[in-house]
Amino acid sequence: KNTITVGLLGLGTVGSGVIEILNDHKESIQHKTGSQVTIKSVLVNDLNKPRELPGETTQLTDRYEDITRDPEIDVVVEVMGGIDHTLSILLEAIEHGKHIVTANKDLMAQHGAELFAASQKTGCDIYYEASVAGGIPIIRSIIDGLSSDRIRKMMGIVNGTTNYIMTKMTQDGTDFDSVLKEAQELGFAEADPTADVDGLDAARKMTILSILGFSMPFNLEDVEVKGIRGLSLSDIKYAEELGYTIKLIGIAENDHTGVSVSVEPTLLPSTHPLSSVHNEFNAVYVYGDAVGETMFYGPGAGKLPTATAVVSDLIAVIKNIRLGTSGKAYVQPQFSKQVKTKKE
Ligand code: NAP
Ligand code: HSE
Repeated sequence: KNTITVGLLGLGTVGSGVIEILNDHKESIQHKTGSQVTIKSVLVNDLNKPRELPGETTQLTDRYEDITRDPEIDVVVEVMGGIDHTLSILLEAIEHGKHIVTANKDLMAQHGAELFAASQKTGCDIYYEASVAGGIPIIRSIIDGLSSDRIRKMMGIVNGTTNYIMTKMTQDGTDFDSVLKEAQELGFAEADPTADVDGLDAARKMTILSILGFSMPFNLEDVEVKGIRGLSLSDIKYAEELGYTIKLIGIAENDHTGVSVSVEPTLLPSTHPLSSVHNEFNAVYVYGDAVGETMFYGPGAGKLPTATAVVSDLIAVIKNIRLGTSGKAYVQPQFSKQVKTKKE
């Protein structure tokens, strides 16, 4: 196909970044894929908000059916967030033969199984690189780059908002509520920032990484989660005086006794590599039997870093369409409901 037609669900922080990258990198994307990408329709909540559209032919809509049922649309890019309503929209899109690119970790961690089952029936792609660690290509690295290895442990900082909050509290002495507000204004926080603050966002990301890294089903409910609510400036300062830094750390381990995954504020020696991951940056340490220790680092949230991951996924989808490999590029991950955890 010389033209790939996209329906965009959401035009907030990430959606506007997707449009910016598609415009700014138009020629190189066409060169890499052999196709021109056109955004035909964009779904939003509020049609009256003032905003820039990618082109004169792009239509704004508040009816998702305009996208899911439009026979001209090849790929649906979901950057609106939400769980149940969004799941039904994407299932309808898949039913109508659309490929999916999503940044939605809430959805993938909880309903990945349904989405993959539906996509298997229609031979559609589902790509979700932006759902974990923003601009860091960690999902691709685990699925592709480390596919020959047996991953034993993944550990890291996978929430940009809480890392931003803790960095600013430590470096500038700013209070929790003011820095949270800043993180929201910068577009790092979720629409409901309790998911960030209470560790649920990091737990969802660790669930996705565990499913992929350990090649086994794993449930969000089995993650032990503790967020950073209640962390005070004096806790942070006291830790600093003792030579420690507090970070919200996700740990996933897989050994002969089963899998354990947790997210909690952790005291790290200030010399520890994760102590120097600041602001909205993320870092994921991955240990494999054969490769040993690896570390992935980069911006974990924000408009352009996240949109980079989304558009790279879109490019992968377009290449699959061209090669006739849609829905076949990867073995389907085991997003399902049975798992052996250490808790059992
Ligand atoms: P956002 O700025 O709040 O934008 C959401 C967009 O979706 C808005 O344009 C909104 O419309 C639209 N929308 C939301 N619910 C809708 C509904 N029910 N019907 C129609 N339109 C709806 O969110 P965001 O920060 O871009 O995040 C989007 C997704 O990417 C989320 O899943 C998030 O977890 C994920 N993500 C975000 C980041 C980040 O750094 N921000 C990083 C990685 C992943 P209006 O404009 O009319 O309000
Ligand atoms: N709210 C998320 C974070 C966005 O702060 O990490 C990126 O997934």
